[in-house]
Amino acid sequence: MKAVLLEEFGDAGKLYLGEAPQPEAGPGQVLIKVAATSVNRPDIIQRQGNYPPPKGDSEILGLEVAGTVEAVGTDVSDFATGDKVFALVGGGGYAEYAVAYAGHVMRIPDNLSFQQAACICETYITAYLNTFSLGRPEAGDFILLHGGGGGVNTAALQLCQALLPDAQTIVTASTHKVARVAELGASHVIDYKTRSFAEEVKSITGGKGVNVILDHIGAAYLADNMKSLAVGGRLVVIGIMGGIKAELNIAVMMVKRQQIIGSVLRSRPVAEKSAIIADFNATVMPLFASGKIEPLVSNSFPLEQVAKAHRAMENGEHFGKIVLTV
Ligand SMILES: NC(=O)c1ccc[n+]([C@@H]2O[C@H](COP(=O)([O-])OP(=O)(O)OC[C@H]3O[C@@H](n4cnc5c(N)ncnc54)[C@H](OP(=O)(O)O)[C@@H]3O)[C@@H](O)[C@H]2O)c1
Repeated sequence: MKAVLLEEFGDAGKLYLGEAPQPEAGPGQVLIKVAATSVNRPDIIQRQGNYPPPKGDSEILGLEVAGTVEAVGTDVSDFATGDKVFALVGGGGYAEYAVAYAGHVMRIPDNLSFQQAACICETYITAYLNTFSLGRPEAGDFILLHGGGGGVNTAALQLCQALLPDAQTIVTASTHKVARVAELGASHVIDYKTRSFAEEVKSITGGKGVNVILDHIGAAYLADNMKSLAVGGRLVVIGIMGGIKAELNIAVMMVKRQQIIGSVLRSRPVAEKSAIIADFNATVMPLFASGKIEPLVSNSFPLEQVAKAHRAMENGEHFGKIVLTV
């Protein structure tokens, strides 16, 4: 089958479309003929050699796919050949065929295209799991989301509006994305290129701070995130774009009863991911099926232009998701 391969770890120029053995559906798995996949920031980190796939998952890049069921393995009764589905995969999305565990596969609602469905798994599940299941915001809370133009964070903003309309969202974004984040419905937008978000948060919340923070910057934002967090607040860290080591004033954290929660989706055990996806399918998918939330497709490239797609993400050209069509 056709698949995106890597000459060696490095920049986007190392990606090329080559030939790889077609995978087979094992017990409890589904083989999907891929119509679309999408680019996620972790793909770039994997391409650079810093994010190997979990043991047993494909070495090929790509964390999610949308397409048609080609075959099912033993013990699969929920899906049949020809079903239109989308799925979370531990790897292998940038290819003509991909294998997913049946518990990680969902049906595509009639109103969504393959391209739209290929944007849901990695970003909306990450946003839902970390902002809602782990962040536990309540009505009337302040929620701080970093990087408002990106895949995960546009998803988190849409979910906050749909699931918790009484919460106030404060979103950091780079200068050229501020207006679009405001249009998407953020209660407050902070240009992180020119302003200190900690000072802005203090002024917006009247000094109280925010109840939940979804952060993917890590070390570079730790001090300001902790300053921005209310008494009893939760900082959920899902990325390390700003480094991995930072100093923390444990006494302040303790006295303010704040929690720092680290979380990844990809390396969780299969059954744990199945439970997260079942919850997501029941709680969030009806919002897509009714049209209340629409996946944000920013740009779309054919699979052979994968290097261009990666460069678009690295240059911050996107707002929402970058899709690859197969
Ligand atoms: N833990 C997990 O399970 C999990 C799962 C999926 C993704 N992630 C992580 O989540 C993050 C987002 O992934 P993605 O696929 O959504 O990538 P993405 O679309 O590239 O989004 C990243 C966003 O970060 C913004 N950004 C860069 N520097 C920033 C800063 N200093 N302050 C605030 N925002 C900044 C960028 O904004 P501009 O381009 O406008 O500068 C961009 O919009 C990545 O770190 C990824 O590794 C974690």
